[in-house]
Amino acid sequence: MRSLSLRSPAKLNLFLQVVNKRPDGYHNLVTVFERIDLFDDLKLTLNPSGDIRVFCDHPDVPTDSRNLVFKAAQLLKDDFALQEGVDFVIKKRIPVAAGLAGGSSNAATALLGLSRLWKLDLTRRELLAYARTLGSDVPFFIYDCSWAIGTGRGDRIKPLILDTKLRHILFVPSIKMYTKEVFAAVNLELTKTNDDVNIFNRSLKKSDISAIGGLLRNDLESSIIKLAPDLRKFKDHMMTLNTQGVSFSGSGPALFGLTKNRQQAEEMKDILQKQYSQVFAVRTF
Ligand code: C5P
Repeated sequence: MRSLSLRSPAKLNLFLQVVNKRPDGYHNLVTVFERIDLFDDLKLTLNPSGDIRVFCDHPDVPTDSRNLVFKAAQLLKDDFALQEGVDFVIKKRIPVAAGLAGGSSNAATALLGLSRLWKLDLTRRELLAYARTLGSDVPFFIYDCSWAIGTGRGDRIKPLILDTKLRHILFVPSIKMYTKEVFAAVNLELTKTNDDVNIFNRSLKKSDISAIGGLLRNDLESSIIKLAPDLRKFKDHMMTLNTQGVSFSGSGPALFGLTKNRQQAEEMKDILQKQYSQVFAVRTF
């Protein structure tokens, strides 16, 4: 096998509770991840010269050692003292720095792909250890699951075995958010702690759309809006569309509305597309 082509999906956070700040500077979270059918394509090809190269035509994606797929390959190459290198070609569809974890998903997909391409046969445990060193959102994508609860930094993953399939309208305003800044602006006193993830998960299990919509939660919202006040206007606009609930994903600025069905998601997409770019109708994948 000389090359592999893989799909690298995005995620939404339907529930994100910030529990506390840790001595290492990160925040402990309780979050519910949903994998969605918005994908980047990642092609990996063996490079006998030993080099690691990244090709991507998106202007905001670095193609040097800052790229997480580069870092993933470097980690494995060093640990296993490999002679062979790899070329990555990334076709970006997931908006960058949006709260959809596109870069983290690319990194996890690179680890999974390299384990096969370089015949390393890594166990899930080993893959997760590498994933954690690359970023808090990377471990979720090591699992082949649609739903999971993330705790710790968001990197401790418990897959949820559910048949639930949801539909959403997703809108990504063209405002760059930096995860680090969003977490730094969190006011832990303001984050409400009364909603319980177990209540959320019971509604999720029952596919009770209106209950899920009412329980969507993202404790990063006030810091997201503090850093980019225009986002309130976009959220308010989404709320007028008659969805079951609207929330930011991760550290934003991606906003999603939970819709009753595909038709409603497509109708809302048509409405929003008249005014904005980066509008998607997505579903659980
Ligand atoms: O893990 P990742 O590199 O994606 O995190 C980016 C930044 O976001 C971290 O440096 C940290 O400041 C912040 N963060 C946090 N708590 C988390 C996840 C991220 O404070 N659970």
